[in-house]
Amino acid sequence: MAAYKWRVSQTVQPAINAATRLCAVLGAPIRHSASPAMHNAAFASLGLDWRYLAFEVDPKNLHAAIVGAKVMGFAGLNLTVPHKLLAVDLVDMLDESAKAWGAVNTIRFDVNGAIGFNTDADAIVTALREALAMELRGAKVLLLGAGGAGRTAALKLASEKVGELFIVNRTPSKAEDIANEVKKRFPSVKIVVGYPKANVDLILNATSLGLNSGDASPLDEKQFSLKQTHAVYDMIYRPAETRLLAAAKAAGCKTANGLGMLLHQGAKAFEIWTGKPAPLDVMRRALEQNIYGH
Ligand code: ATR
Repeated sequence: MAAYKWRVSQTVQPAINAATRLCAVLGAPIRHSASPAMHNAAFASLGLDWRYLAFEVDPKNLHAAIVGAKVMGFAGLNLTVPHKLLAVDLVDMLDESAKAWGAVNTIRFDVNGAIGFNTDADAIVTALREALAMELRGAKVLLLGAGGAGRTAALKLASEKVGELFIVNRTPSKAEDIANEVKKRFPSVKIVVGYPKANVDLILNATSLGLNSGDASPLDEKQFSLKQTHAVYDMIYRPAETRLLAAAKAAGCKTANGLGMLLHQGAKAFEIWTGKPAPLDVMRRALEQNIYGH
């Protein structure tokens, strides 16, 4: 009985008090975010006196918000759309991960100030492997999107030595810029702007198209058929099934939404802030409940 009580006491989170450590996600919009559910479940499961909040912050106020969090003793922040590129110039120091991928999605505050990290890039690879059993080396990939998420994905996929990478974007010049950067940094990777002529192993959606009900699919099926890919991954996790994923399922593709990517970037951020191994199963369960409602 005593042992049972002890175990329970390890998982009871203290009520918010003057010593509670705080983390938060900043974005605009932010109401859709499942990060608070994931991180608060993780803090509670480890009995940590920590809480995770969400704030809608306009990009013009991002610097003030980061400085505010720093001077108020926050442990860390996550940044989401549209802040990840802006934050590169607003932190005091960049970790190697943020330097490599040119975007900051995680900040840790310590004696050195605000340190910027990128936990998104590794999460893409982990999520693709986990959800689709996808090994990227040598794979042919069609990437949709050339914004912040698309750029990080393109560079990371190239660093994983994909066989061929095709990028399609509404604004082609942004895809060209990314293709040029990939060519410079990863000269052995074949990268093409435009739809592939032959089959691919994976279509990866990194556009924001699908977030709103009524959004069209980011894939122009007149140019490339879903029959020509083995798998489709959508970085969007809410809605859990975008128009693209529904069509891909109907076409017989293996599919996955962005839950796994959110989970793995969050787990790494949790470890950066707390110095403790992330309770991955607890975090995954909290996301499933938040996103699927069961
Ligand atoms: P993130 O950080 O999530 O990548 P972003 O940098 O704003 O956000 O990029 C959004 C991506 O979705 C871009 O590829 C964008 O295309 P453009 O570069 O042409 O803007 C794409 N996107 C957004 N709305 C779109 C729409 N209505 N049709 C097609 N693509 C769209």
